[in-house]
Amino acid sequence: MPNRDQVIDPEQIHALLDIVQAINSIPQIQSLLDKVMDIALTTIKAERGFLVLKEEDGNLNVAVARNMSAGLAEQMAKPSASIVNRVLNEVTPLLSHDAVTDPRFLGSESVIIQKITSVACVPLTLKGNPIGVIYLDSTLDRQLFNESTLTFLQLFVNQAALSIENARLIEKLQLENRLLQTELQKTYGFPEIIGVSPRMQSVFEIMRKILSSDISLLLQGESGTGKELVARAIHYNGQRRDKPFVAQFCGNLSENLLESELFGHKKGSFTGAIVDKRGLFEIADGGTFFLDEIADISPAIQAKLLRVLQEGSFRRVGDTEDRKVDVRIISATNKDLKAEVKRGAFREDLFYRLNVITITMPPLRERRSDIRLLVQHFLNKVATRSGQKPKRISTDVMKAFERYHWPGNVRELENTIERSVVLSSQDVITIDDLLIPDAEEREIEPRSLKDQEKEIVLRTLEECEGNKTRSSEVLGVSLRWLHYKLNEWNIGKPRRDSNH
Ligand SMILES: Nc1ncnc2c1ncn2[C@@H]1O[C@H](COP(=O)(O)OP(=O)(O)O)[C@@H](O)[C@H]1O
Ligand SMILES: [Mg+2]
Repeated sequence: MPNRDQVIDPEQIHALLDIVQAINSIPQIQSLLDKVMDIALTTIKAERGFLVLKEEDGNLNVAVARNMSAGLAEQMAKPSASIVNRVLNEVTPLLSHDAVTDPRFLGSESVIIQKITSVACVPLTLKGNPIGVIYLDSTLDRQLFNESTLTFLQLFVNQAALSIENARLIEKLQLENRLLQTELQKTYGFPEIIGVSPRMQSVFEIMRKILSSDISLLLQGESGTGKELVARAIHYNGQRRDKPFVAQFCGNLSENLLESELFGHKKGSFTGAIVDKRGLFEIADGGTFFLDEIADISPAIQAKLLRVLQEGSFRRVGDTEDRKVDVRIISATNKDLKAEVKRGAFREDLFYRLNVITITMPPLRERRSDIRLLVQHFLNKVATRSGQKPKRISTDVMKAFERYHWPGNVRELENTIERSVVLSSQDVITIDDLLIPDAEEREIEPRSLKDQEKEIVLRTLEECEGNKTRSSEVLGVSLRWLHYKLNEWNIGKPRRDSNH
């Protein structure tokens, strides 16, 4: 223990304060160890030094060496009779002003060969257990190190040991966190679709159930929520994966063009049809057809589609020949298709054929617990594309992301990240690099009680990790009420239409 009467140099007290500040703000273990060594070296004006840490298996590992090679440091530290080992075993600091005549170093090769005069060697301890040693020496000055040196060093290494332990814990936690997130992703997900929220887990659950069937699937959800991504994942993870995946956007295309795209045409069937043309359904044969924005298709095309679904056959435009085709149909819409049926814009029979199973993709604001992972995913994606190290984002930015309304959902998040990576000149993206359009306005956008009710209920469910009993307790409502609401919003179990 440092002697209470011992006077510490004011310079050393300042150094001590600086050290505490500096080392506590370095979360990375290696930079921290470098810093600790440098401070020790310069403050007591030693010539050389090294820092060894005791590994879990008891081995000594030279973590930093200054003005000497790591190899030499190792040679000096490893022998069981070395100064380092003595300090470590006895958990007592050692100071010598005159190593050559000091009986404790009698016969010590390093002292003789290297003409070491002053030596200071202090154990790094944590709760009384030695975790390493700082060794410092000098060959120049006799009487370089004195008792105040030792007092200072002891105060210093106590701080350093704590910081090292903290940094180690942080690194361990970060590693564990990464492993856990990858595990989660593996267990619940399709690797290309990011999502650990309960809402996404129920999406994955339905996806897994229908992978090996040919059941028609309707994907509902706002734009940018990942409908096409899900359609692709189902195709490429299912039994049709070796056959084509064909996607056609059906919104606001002219009827003739869309019809000819989907089903092909016979030469001369309309102006401009100068050759026979195969339609996309023929190209998709054996595979999966993804019909995007299905709500907008015309009655004539609806009728043809129904035939494909019912009989597996169709005719090219202007042709009389029936052609057979085997495709799995996945359709998508951001409209309420049932409402389109009600108002007579969409055939009811086709609706039931397309909609054997529905997956409703949750908007991003209803699964905020996925934002963190998505951000990391897109940062990595941009980095891979540009061949650079992934940038990081500041805590402020992450908070802003987690608050924002995301009307454009995951697509908007992806675009925002791509843009901010380009705009930021630093490794860390800050709030100034962001261009979220009218982020604040959206936050205070007036919303109906019904919408807010839904958001609050879903957020609570997320926070309770999908546990409905706990959520109902937190919300102060009955479990029955909660089930009733989830049913009303179509959330929970995969819905199978029994009408068909
Ligand atoms: N869960 C997700 N994980 C990773 N990327 C996603 C996710 N959801 C959407 N994306 C990405 O966001 C963009 C928009 O998704 P998309 O499937 O085209 O949405 P939609 O068809 O619903 O408009 C795409 O680049 C897609 O890869
Ligand atoms: Mg889309």
